[in-house]
Amino acid sequence: MLTDDEISSLRLRFPILSQKTYLYSCSQGALSDAAESGLRAYAESWRTSSAPWNDWVEAYEAMRAEFARFIKAHPDEIAIVTSASAGINAIANAIDFANRPNVVMGEYEFPTMGQIWLAQQTRGAHIRFLDGVNNSIPLDAYERAIDERTAIVPVTEVSFLNGFRSDVPAVTRLSHSKGALVFLDGFQDCGTRPIDVKALDVDFYVTGTLKYLLGPPGVAFLYVKRSLIESLSSTLTSWMAQRDVFAYNTKKLDPASEGRRFEGGSPPMPSIYTARPALDLLVSIGLENVACQIEQLTRAFTQGTRALGISTKTPDTTVGPLVVVRSTDAAALVNKLAERGVIVSARLDGVRFSFHVYNNLADVDAALSVLQSNLHLVARV
Ligand SMILES: Cc1ncc(COP(=O)(O)O)c(C=O)c1O
Repeated sequence: MLTDDEISSLRLRFPILSQKTYLYSCSQGALSDAAESGLRAYAESWRTSSAPWNDWVEAYEAMRAEFARFIKAHPDEIAIVTSASAGINAIANAIDFANRPNVVMGEYEFPTMGQIWLAQQTRGAHIRFLDGVNNSIPLDAYERAIDERTAIVPVTEVSFLNGFRSDVPAVTRLSHSKGALVFLDGFQDCGTRPIDVKALDVDFYVTGTLKYLLGPPGVAFLYVKRSLIESLSSTLTSWMAQRDVFAYNTKKLDPASEGRRFEGGSPPMPSIYTARPALDLLVSIGLENVACQIEQLTRAFTQGTRALGISTKTPDTTVGPLVVVRSTDAAALVNKLAERGVIVSARLDGVRFSFHVYNNLADVDAALSVLQSNLHLVARV
């Protein structure tokens, strides 16, 4: 657990925190001095290097190795892609729906997850959405829906919409018991606690850097379990996804046997240069410490909303990082908060307060104080 002094020192590394109450990490993490210097290092390398691509490929592979360590996977199991959607698409286009046409997912998945699998209907997929009950997807709904005809179960670790946390181990056990694959979307969780994809035993994992990994848009990661990689031939491919990138053989398709098999063309180097020091910073803080700070702030904020009689969409048991307040006019409430320097985001009728390791109890108090002055804009319990 970090001390108050350590949090205060950390906050100095994120310049926006001296001006704003930044509870916006579920949309975009705050810019650190580390990430900004990474971006400058990219420009420097472009300006000065005699063979920039040699340096950039080295940086690219270092990023892959570091992210693999971060989620406890092997670098060969990681594809670096430009968005989570690109990673999901690469797999969706490789799944054979002939014997197992069904795709089962909860209704709180991020839209891209539903839309990408719906687009597979032309290839024979049937998509089945599970209804939420009190802002959770009950496990027995998965139990009823997953069977021997289920190809894959996409599941969000934390929902972007209401902060609901899926029971990933239970969904994974259930899916595997019927022979279905599991695709975990960790975007709203990755960077907030330690993650071990091997212990979770998921088949696919996707996340991007721009939220709790404190990086920019443009870099995302797809993990594919080693034993599955070569069995998947995606219709999305590229020259950089080939076994020998430098064969330059236009007439031959020969996808790599590693995670690289799912990658697109020339990688987003400015984003990679920016994302890597941000990840280093997070690792140096310690993910257990990050989780502890987030849990403390989430509990304080949830207690505060309860004391004010405010209705939240997030299940009471949440340990963060996202708490969503139900609003009667979400856009107006976001504006009221912004007027007092509290930066949040809205989705439908929910206003999202998201906590990261650089937030403190003063941030919680600032947010609660604006809510208290605007009770007419929130739904009450
Ligand atoms: C849970 C979740 N999954 C996927 C995405 C989409 O990511 P991308 O824009 O990188 O495809 C987001 C973006 O906000 C998200 O919150």
